[in-house]
Amino acid sequence: MKLLEGKNAIITGGSRGIGKGIAKVFARHGANVAFTYNSSAESANDLADELRKLGIKAKAYKSNAASYAEADQLVKDVSEDFGRIDILINNAGITKDNLLMRMSEEDFDKVIEVNLKSIFNMTKAVQRTMLKQRKGSIINMSSVVGVTGNAGQANYAASKAGIIGFSKSMAQELGSRNIRTNVIAPGFIETEMTEKLDGKVVEGWRQAIPLKRGGAPEDIANACVFLGSDLSSYITGQVLHVDGGMHT
Ligand SMILES: NC(=O)c1ccc[n+]([C@@H]2O[C@H](COP(=O)([O-])OP(=O)(O)OC[C@H]3O[C@@H](n4cnc5c(N)ncnc54)[C@H](OP(=O)(O)O)[C@@H]3O)[C@@H](O)[C@H]2O)c1
Repeated sequence: MKLLEGKNAIITGGSRGIGKGIAKVFARHGANVAFTYNSSAESANDLADELRKLGIKAKAYKSNAASYAEADQLVKDVSEDFGRIDILINNAGITKDNLLMRMSEEDFDKVIEVNLKSIFNMTKAVQRTMLKQRKGSIINMSSVVGVTGNAGQANYAASKAGIIGFSKSMAQELGSRNIRTNVIAPGFIETEMTEKLDGKVVEGWRQAIPLKRGGAPEDIANACVFLGSDLSSYITGQVLHVDGGMHT
């Protein structure tokens, strides 16, 4: 069953990892997919070609999510190319881990700008369109550590906790116009972001996960299909933990 037939989605950070997984699963569900990348142009263009073969409309856009001007231009371009915007997935994110003692001001600011300010940028840019449509679903990618915290990730955890507060506020501001805002909090999902982590630490996490495995990008993508589709039309302001039971 195709749950997103004919819907248009914007996915930030679609060139790799979870965002790429979401783009593929969305296309399989019949959605047209506009996705962004920051540096991985080749992989982004290859993905757009692959998606178009599934018979949907797909296009990759270079856009730095941390820049309001670029987010605003992106939404104008996507509106011109696709028409309506039914779903926005704010997925782009980075880590710059260190203990606070060694964390530079620059690394704190960079993570907040890319992970949190990007959500302000994209939501503000897209809300005009969704308000006119009187319909929309916004899905913001937080993390289990936005709820639990994590030593060595104060900047990242702060950005991911901020996403939850921002999203709950949007659910209240935009709900009367039938624009829903929800959060997904992934646990340990195996992508390039987690490849950077220490192998022993990762194995310790795997053992601590009740389902005893890391997740795949498709696990997050399936949750996005639900929150993007009309199956979740009475759900807003929620945090959906997709983490194999890591956060209970
Ligand atoms: N993997 C996990 O275990 C996990 C757990 C919890 C939450 N998350 C969250 O899930 C999201 C995706 O993570 P991932 O594991 O898929 O990461 P990833 O493999 O490192 O991919 C990150 C994606 O974000 C894009 N990106 C980075 N900076 C950007 C910018 N300034 N503007 C636009 N795009 C930018 C990258 O594009 P380029 O390649 O073009 O730079 C890439 O497509 C992130 O928000 C992350 O915090 C991941």
